[in-house]
Amino acid sequence: MLVIRSIQQLQTTLAEHRLAGRSLGLVPTMGNLHQGHLQLVKTAQQHADVVMVSLFVNPTQFGANEDLDSYPRTFQQDIDKLEALDTDILFVPTVDEIYPLGGDHSSHVHVPGITTVLCGASRPGHFDGVTTIVSKLFNMSRADVAVFGEKDWQQLAVIRRMVIDLNIPIKIIGEPIVREADGLAMSSRNGYLSTEQRQLAPALYTCLKDIEQALSDGARNYLALQENACSQLNKLGFRVDYLHIMDPLKLTAPTPDDQQFIILVAAFNGDTRLIDNLHLICT
Ligand code: PAF
Repeated sequence: MLVIRSIQQLQTTLAEHRLAGRSLGLVPTMGNLHQGHLQLVKTAQQHADVVMVSLFVNPTQFGANEDLDSYPRTFQQDIDKLEALDTDILFVPTVDEIYPLGGDHSSHVHVPGITTVLCGASRPGHFDGVTTIVSKLFNMSRADVAVFGEKDWQQLAVIRRMVIDLNIPIKIIGEPIVREADGLAMSSRNGYLSTEQRQLAPALYTCLKDIEQALSDGARNYLALQENACSQLNKLGFRVDYLHIMDPLKLTAPTPDDQQFIILVAAFNGDTRLIDNLHLICT
């Protein structure tokens, strides 16, 4: 695996691949790779000749009181895992390489509308940071396809919208959530959980499954379902940030006739903010 740190070397290397007619798949990450990330790489390998993973803990998507400094950095383990998968290129730029003028003094990409709800409401500016770094990676790499996890459902929806709005010539692939045996969605932030918090964590998924069952059984009082689930989670020891049943594409409230839903939750387990979601189609 070729480890590249500068944009210039990246572009020279990728130009050679392009000249040889090879397609490029991109998997953007912030490192601390788990099975969920590795599945993104495997999917990228099925869709492109050359796969490049980027590893960059992007400061512009973290709020002032968030976990930028403590975000887990496990570089050598990440390299070992990517090499075991025969990844072609790992791009690991520094913050200065990406934001030579500083993150606050550079142009940024803003997607309106769907960035104002859910995580966008709780983490102001977060999606501007995400769309800015992702569009920079798209521009630097000129990748043919990029793969993102569906665990960040809203992030994926925002990126798809950006690609359409800005006519970016790239195919976006969403990869289903990879879960631990007990149902907890894999996340780099799970490592923050104490033993007790880790035991509580899968209850988030159980709660999503309960709502799924109710919707499949015909329940359509979305507000009551949401309120009931929130109070159950809060009683268990979570501090719910949001729990919404929504239209999966528009991320708006569903109508009583809708048959397709996304149930999204964000909740604090101790100081750790966990997110999860469940997509369902009632037939
Ligand atoms: O999902 C993530 O890990 C990040 O938001 C991403 C897409 C790599 C951008 O920094």
